[in-house]
Amino acid sequence: MTDQASGSGRALAFPPGLRAVGAAGAAFMSVLSVDDLPPGAMRRVTIGDLDVLVAHTASGIAAVDDRCPHMSAPLSLGELDGCIVACPLHEGRFDLATGDPVQMPTTGGLDAEGVYHPVWTPGGRHSRPDVPGRKAEARRLTRVRRLRYYPVRIVGGHIEVAVPQD
Ligand code: FES
Repeated sequence: MTDQASGSGRALAFPPGLRAVGAAGAAFMSVLSVDDLPPGAMRRVTIGDLDVLVAHTASGIAAVDDRCPHMSAPLSLGELDGCIVACPLHEGRFDLATGDPVQMPTTGGLDAEGVYHPVWTPGGRHSRPDVPGRKAEARRLTRVRRLRYYPVRIVGGHIEVAVPQD
């Protein structure tokens, strides 16, 4: 994992196994000045048809899809506290240092490992069954995947991100 320190920022060491497919050999491109992303700030950058969240977390600068793993809301409209990004839509919270959900929404669906939960519940508690019907079916079919990370490096005061190109 790349963890390059340079200038006034450093890249977050992203979690193993969560690098976006095709990003390994992709070319880096400058997306922001480090000065435009102070600690605690988040920005959406759009590269082609890909929306990327660039976040200056307490552990470094991370680049992930700007899509909540729950139902695709733009995380860039949420809030960043340390390494925890809070989704603006259903109170989901995700740790950018680990890629794990800290709090999943109570609307049910698949968790980060693809296990379906009728209604999210804290560990150790039983979940309530869904009332059968179209909503329950929609929740069951809602696909949640883990955050996908893009390599980041800091060069000459600029944040560079590597995203797959067609
Ligand atoms: S879309 Fe983010 S928590 Fe539901």
